[in-house]
Amino acid sequence: MALLRFVDMKAHRGPCSLFSFTRRLVHRAQALSTLVSSSALSPPSKAVVYELHGPPDTVTRVIDLPPAEVKENDVCVKMLAAPINPSDINRIEGVYPVRPQPPAVGGYEGVGEVHSVGSAVRGLSPGDWVIPSPPSFGTWQTYIVKDQIAWHKINKDVPMEYAATVTVNPLTALRMLEDYITLNSGDSIVQNGATSMVGQCIVQLAQYRGIHSINIIRDRAGSDEVKERLKNLGADEVFTESQFEVKNVKSFLGNIPEPALGFNCVGGNAASLVLKFLRQGGTMVTYGGMSKKPVTVSTSSFIFKELSLRGFWLQRWLSTEKAGQSREMIDRLLGLVRDGKLKYEMELVPFNNFHTALDKALGKLGSQPKQVIKF
Ligand SMILES: NC(=O)c1ccc[n+]([C@@H]2O[C@H](COP(=O)([O-])OP(=O)(O)OC[C@H]3O[C@@H](n4cnc5c(N)ncnc54)[C@H](OP(=O)(O)O)[C@@H]3O)[C@@H](O)[C@H]2O)c1
Repeated sequence: MALLRFVDMKAHRGPCSLFSFTRRLVHRAQALSTLVSSSALSPPSKAVVYELHGPPDTVTRVIDLPPAEVKENDVCVKMLAAPINPSDINRIEGVYPVRPQPPAVGGYEGVGEVHSVGSAVRGLSPGDWVIPSPPSFGTWQTYIVKDQIAWHKINKDVPMEYAATVTVNPLTALRMLEDYITLNSGDSIVQNGATSMVGQCIVQLAQYRGIHSINIIRDRAGSDEVKERLKNLGADEVFTESQFEVKNVKSFLGNIPEPALGFNCVGGNAASLVLKFLRQGGTMVTYGGMSKKPVTVSTSSFIFKELSLRGFWLQRWLSTEKAGQSREMIDRLLGLVRDGKLKYEMELVPFNNFHTALDKALGKLGSQPKQVIKF
């Protein structure tokens, strides 16, 4: 078994110190190097590893990993960039429902360049750009070795940070707009967490289809500037939560029709606001809980307004039949990026500054753009 795959699949279970984990890897590398020629090994890798679940800023560290064997169907990829998503943080904390067993390498999506291929690999060559598709654990490392079926070749005509982030958030936005109710041009949607990457994608993918968006953001200093940026992306209306300290939120709709579909990634009051905007029989899809507050629904919303509550989870969607088309959808999303129709705010951060990027992703330095590690 290739070394980095060993890290990735967490084949071993039970407590194991990072020291013994690394030592085992080094022993395996030494054993391997006597078995395979150096041309069939990956270069050594640097990885963000956690040996225990816990606060990501205290349990993660950057370590050196020894070379891994590149078998005949394997592709060795030099990672170029990978984001820090909220779900990556939750996996390290140990609160995400599906997570690798520590010690584990962080990260779940990213983009890399093919470094070398095994003798039986077809259709991938050194220099190609690939993404793990479906996404998989362990992208926060400089070299990854995986079977060729794990990789999806993409065009190199988009900035690497978009290729690195196209799967988890833009695909979620695309699916949520298409999978719940049929929306037509002229319809509207309402969402909270509009500054998130998913939120920014929803604004643009909706506008592309002629669908209006009503957007709710957190109160903050400089909210006018944030509103302007979202409007430049295509948002019809952007409100801060405190603007709704009135009963009748519908007076904020202006000429926009009442939305039949709402998206919630915050919970608490921000979720209640989405519900208030929905029309009779409307649906709210919850896909995140950034405030860590529960969604509370009034009895009358169910009885008199007949609202429906649904949930979306990309990881579950990726295990359905429809996921067979996910690579095609990713290519479509990257095409929109290339054509300037899909953009979102990101900060590319050198790998050496990983812990600063992590602090920003954890919200320790206030609201920040998506942190994307550049290897
Ligand atoms: N269910 C799924 O399959 C799925 C897929 C993708 C993403 N998600 C979820 O979608 C959400 C957004 O992900 P993302 O990667 O797009 O986000 P992101 O770009 O990393 O941005 C984080 C967002 O969370 C907001 N936020 C942070 N802390 C908050 C708090 N305490 N209260 C309220 N809002 C807070 C930020 O608002 P400010 O701008 O005000 O700081 C920002 O809008 C996350 O919950 C993520 O787990 C779920």
